[in-house]
Amino acid sequence: MSALFATLVRFLKIKAMIKKVSVIGSGTMGNGIAHVFAQCGYEVSLIDINDKALEKALATIGKNFDRQVAKGSITEADKAKALSNIKTFTKMEDGVKSADLVVEAATENVNLKLDIFKQLDSLCASNVILASNTSSISITKIASVTKRADKVIGMHFMNPVPVMKLVEVIRGYSTSDDITARIMEMSKNLGKIPVEVNDYPGFVANRILMPMINEAIYTLYEGVAGVTEIDTVMKLGMAHPMGPLQLADFIGLDVCLSIMRVLHDGFGNPKYAPCPLLVNMVTAGNLGAKSGKGFYEYTAGSKDLVVAENFRKKELA
Ligand code: CAA
Repeated sequence: MSALFATLVRFLKIKAMIKKVSVIGSGTMGNGIAHVFAQCGYEVSLIDINDKALEKALATIGKNFDRQVAKGSITEADKAKALSNIKTFTKMEDGVKSADLVVEAATENVNLKLDIFKQLDSLCASNVILASNTSSISITKIASVTKRADKVIGMHFMNPVPVMKLVEVIRGYSTSDDITARIMEMSKNLGKIPVEVNDYPGFVANRILMPMINEAIYTLYEGVAGVTEIDTVMKLGMAHPMGPLQLADFIGLDVCLSIMRVLHDGFGNPKYAPCPLLVNMVTAGNLGAKSGKGFYEYTAGSKDLVVAENFRKKELA
């Protein structure tokens, strides 16, 4: 009885305290995070540097709600209500004014994130929780530029955010037990399954995922097998929804490379050295789906998996 009562009190406390959420960055992750919070009844301020980016984000969120309407998981009225929960801002000071929680999902660049957190620390009241959706930058380092390291935490959502159940909740070196518990509980309120991890390079998700992707690229680089063969082995043999090379294209090869570098620098272990083929592809601008070419080639409107020309088997003369 008392345990039940304590859980109820904790739930009501979280609901009462976190109502307004500001999301910084309206790209793939930011618009997915805004989508999920808005659907769960939170008031969302979506912030980006220009109106064009925000318009594109709202259009994407609308389309993703349409998928849910089409399969009957929400109604048109739910969609309209959720969209009405989202307001957009181009000035950070306006967008975070009354936030209870800020989730930063800007470009994965250390200096940019440090700059954003310095600004947030001066703009937000001292009780506001500052979360980052970083996929690999140290939460402890981000927290170190604020005067509230105990209230800085990682909320690493997975792409596509409305579909993927996991939130990797990363405790920085100084993140408090209370803030961690509140973010864990709030993630459950979003219909997600949070997992608490400590702040070391790559956390858990990317410490395991990226070396697997890097090894798949080495397997291709060394000529052990072709793109289709490597992805088929992992899809059919390990029941992965996408093969590692397709997943690398989906995530972005520049993102994969930068995470491998975080692991390599952070642990100083040569086992994390990025594959030279990955480095070459990023240097050449072949970044995966977003650039139209990676291990596969992408044509707007087509879902066909076409191996990129560089990796097609050459006909024997
Ligand atoms: N918003 C809402 N719903 C979406 C969506 C979106 N953006 N994208 C897909 N969906 C829904 C579809 O409507 C569909 O729903 P139903 O099955 O209920 O009809 C479902 O998701 C499957 O979509 P599709 O049929 O279009 O395509 P699919 O079966 O190929 O699935 C996928 C697509 C969900 C992306 C699947 O391929 C998958 O799970 N891939 C692996 C994704 C993954 O590993 N993500 C993690 C990447 S790593 C990361 O994010 C972190 C990092 O730090 C790098």
